[in-house]
Amino acid sequence: MLEPLHTASALSALLAARRAEGRPIGFVPTMGALHRGHLELVREARRRSNFVLVSIFVNPTQFGPNEDFTRYPRDLPGDLLKCADAGADAAFVPEVADMYPDGAETRVTVGRLSSPLCGAYRPGHFDGVATVVAKFFALVGPCVAVFGRKDYQQLRVIERMAIDLLFPVTVVGHPTVRDSDGLALSSRNAYLSPEERLRALAIPRALHDAAQAYARGERNVGVLLQGAARRVEGAATSVDYVSLADTATLEPFDTATVLPGPALLAIAARIGHTRLIDNVVLGQDAPPPVEEAPASGEGG
Ligand code: PAF
Repeated sequence: MLEPLHTASALSALLAARRAEGRPIGFVPTMGALHRGHLELVREARRRSNFVLVSIFVNPTQFGPNEDFTRYPRDLPGDLLKCADAGADAAFVPEVADMYPDGAETRVTVGRLSSPLCGAYRPGHFDGVATVVAKFFALVGPCVAVFGRKDYQQLRVIERMAIDLLFPVTVVGHPTVRDSDGLALSSRNAYLSPEERLRALAIPRALHDAAQAYARGERNVGVLLQGAARRVEGAATSVDYVSLADTATLEPFDTATVLPGPALLAIAARIGHTRLIDNVVLGQDAPPPVEEAPASGEGG
């Protein structure tokens, strides 16, 4: 098990010592409740560096007032064991009061990339993400930071923020990790009942069908969206969006558009009380698998 570092000064001392040995730093920011997807990020960071730091911090500023901050799954001892098994060298586990000192007033807002898709349904969410990640980048310093592409908009926001604020950080996006039946791994999958988990499969299936249609030559946004939306609406409790968007700007395409090239198909829907997101870049990513039932029942 890794010994958690709780303070910025302990973190700085450790990183300074590792840098003095000439070891490039890999960094994987997380909110804990680690699953196989996070551990793949740790392995990716290990391939790109030789000292891997994981942060575990449930960041209050990225949750809305009626969201799941208080019940977000937490399992620090389990997370520390998993980090060590996956090859992490250190875990930074700060307190809220250290990340947001008394009187904190500064928020990082990443303009237009924060507005569409999830930004329209979770006001302030990406400000909270950009703010906490900026604080982590300031504490960690030069590093390769690895994020999952399941949170595609988050990845784009962080890439932009790192460039705009001149952080000496290389931001890397890692492909979404899925269960064998296609469901994208997420800490929030732990909220799903067995019946809800089955219904949630409509999301990767919608992505799969659209990716197949794109591969067959379908480029009409309205046609691609109609099939995907029908599938998700048939299973979800409510749907925030099923959108085809530009991969760089994240601006959704009008339904009359004929896609000029690869495009982001992104879905956000509630299954019961659980809000799930997923995406595929049509013309770039392999379609999610759809066949088998999960072997392990792993979901968290
Ligand atoms: O993706 C997450 O787990 C969080 O949004 C992040 C990047 C760790 C910031 O709190």
